[in-house]
Amino acid sequence: MAEKNKLYYGDNLGVLGNYIASDSVDLIYLDPPFNSRQNYNVLFAEKDGTRSASQITAFKDTWEWNEEAARSYEKVVENGGRVADAMCAFRTLLGGSDMLAYLAMMAPRLVELRRVLKETGSIYLHCDPTASHYLKLLMDGVFGAQMFHSEIIWKRNSAHSDAKRFGSVHDTLLFYSKGLEPFWCTQYQAYEPEYVEQYYRYKDDDGRRFMSGDLGAAGLQGGGYEYEWKGITRLWRVPISTMERLDRGKRVFYTRNGIPRVKRYLDESRGMPAQDVWTDIEALKSWMKERLGYPTQKPEALLERIVRASSNEGDVVLDPFCGCGTTVQVAQKLHRRWVGIDITHLAIGLIKNRLVTTFGEDIKKTYDVVGEPTDLEGARQLAEENKFQFQAWALGLVEARVADSDRRGADRGIEEKSSSTITPDKLNKLCFPSKEVRVSRIQSFISLAYFPLSAPRSAPSSRLLIPPGP
Ligand SMILES: C[S@@+](CC[C@H](N)C(=O)[O-])C[C@H]1O[C@@H](n2cnc3c(N)ncnc32)[C@H](O)[C@@H]1O
Repeated sequence: MAEKNKLYYGDNLGVLGNYIASDSVDLIYLDPPFNSRQNYNVLFAEKDGTRSASQITAFKDTWEWNEEAARSYEKVVENGGRVADAMCAFRTLLGGSDMLAYLAMMAPRLVELRRVLKETGSIYLHCDPTASHYLKLLMDGVFGAQMFHSEIIWKRNSAHSDAKRFGSVHDTLLFYSKGLEPFWCTQYQAYEPEYVEQYYRYKDDDGRRFMSGDLGAAGLQGGGYEYEWKGITRLWRVPISTMERLDRGKRVFYTRNGIPRVKRYLDESRGMPAQDVWTDIEALKSWMKERLGYPTQKPEALLERIVRASSNEGDVVLDPFCGCGTTVQVAQKLHRRWVGIDITHLAIGLIKNRLVTTFGEDIKKTYDVVGEPTDLEGARQLAEENKFQFQAWALGLVEARVADSDRRGADRGIEEKSSSTITPDKLNKLCFPSKEVRVSRIQSFISLAYFPLSAPRSAPSSRLLIPPGP
């Protein structure tokens, strides 16, 4: 039986080191926090529709140069090699700064990611202009400059007003490979309207657009076929039988001088091989169905292009900063195997929910979740460590999630699919199916959360919701 897909809760550095074998992954997409100095919060909605002050910090995008960062820096430098050289150069340039702290966080992770990639594997690092220039140098250090393939500019928005500078509307994806011959499958994108106007300028009577292609073979290597066609004798690039077939099928177009040319229809074209500037994939907007309300969620179309270009069916796709699981979702849809890692229970809960919503209940049998509490003690520990993480985890158990306040409006409580409140009994069944575990223990388990699920204390009117049931 094929190995199950894996969803890991935890810090990706530890998860990679402890669980992911060397040379085992075909494609990595990573979308780490960019050091944009923001905390990405998922807000609770108030009853009146306003945004509540209470929120879960989904993840932090702020790094500080502190002892921990310095330790991480020293460790990378001690290991020597090109990565250490790059980090030392950054230290000279940036001093003990927040940017250096960010790069010191990224460096060991990129080294681990290179280790787990197969020789034919590829990696796409998604970043933005805040750090893309440093990250490219770091990637050169880790993978080697000769393993660089593309710097993809993804135009997210059509316009952005930024005071006193050009509007910032793009992200950057750095595409590298581990070996010199990574797997590749050319992807196509629709032609730009100007290109269509210029080259597909002919139309059939029914409006079908086409461009005309040469049928002459003059100058072609390998010669051609010499015969007379409609009064013109020359070297043609197709034999006469093909010319007759094309003509019968009304696929030959005659110029004003009577020269035959072949019609190439726009609707039969695969489009243009995808270039490194992507303007045809829209960022998610609040009204889009795909949107889950997770900050920084990426569109599936973006991942589809990457997954199709750099992996085959059955290959393993890894996302070590998987957020609400766009990569996981796309890998599943395109019949790849997958590994997702995230450090928040909110993200893990959302992914589980997203997978069931799209692929049905049976999907649960095809993957394992690693790193979540599996017993009361683990749950207690999580609640003590972090009430928000605990809450996100507990909600995930009942396929509930934090409200996307932009889209859903306010007045939804923590509800189960049946619309009833989560009771200790239900949590008991969901968390600890064994009969010996008593309901009273579950009551104490729930009271561990500083935010009791049925009546949030510190944010009385805050709301959480689950997606509509099937
Ligand atoms: C920019 S978001 C990724 C969004 C994702 N591409 C999507 O479409 O939903 C970055 C994610 O990295 C996670 N993260 C940050 N540091 C991490 C770490 N050390 N290990 C694992 N995940 C981490 C955050 O929790 C967050 O979900």
